[in-house]
Amino acid sequence: MGSPKSYITSDELQKCNMLSIIDEFSEDLKDVRGKCMDIGCGPGDITKDFLLPNLSLDAQIIGTDISDSMIKYANKTFKDEKRLHFEVLDIQTKNLPKKYISEFNHIFLFHSLHWCNDIR
Ligand SMILES: C[S@@+](CC[C@H](N)C(=O)[O-])C[C@H]1O[C@@H](n2cnc3c(N)ncnc32)[C@H](O)[C@@H]1O
Repeated sequence: MGSPKSYITSDELQKCNMLSIIDEFSEDLKDVRGKCMDIGCGPGDITKDFLLPNLSLDAQIIGTDISDSMIKYANKTFKDEKRLHFEVLDIQTKNLPKKYISEFNHIFLFHSLHWCNDIR
């Protein structure tokens, strides 16, 4: 995966897909509350500008990604003290840290699962 900045300037297709997902599920998304995770969030632009504004105001999101540089960029550029921050996490880990277990009301994942060799 390229740098966060180059990803952001070339993710038009992903944004287009997000618009159609939001359009299809907007009524359900409005009811999403509580602690959410966006797995494989990349640089965080889609999490901040597309996902978060379509959830209930009571929803908070932790964006996670395996890439240190994506998470560093996301926290620097899109972090919001109350509702959004980003953490490094490899979703393929066999030892999921305890702080992530049974802690989330909703999990999102867009355009990332195909990067994993071991989906289980
Ligand atoms: C195509 S980008 C998708 C970014 C964003 N979700 C979007 O829709 O534009 C895929 C992201 O998945 C991340 N990724 C790949 N393998 C991962 C893993 N094992 N755990 C967490 N994130 C991973 C990559 O670092 C990359 O930022």
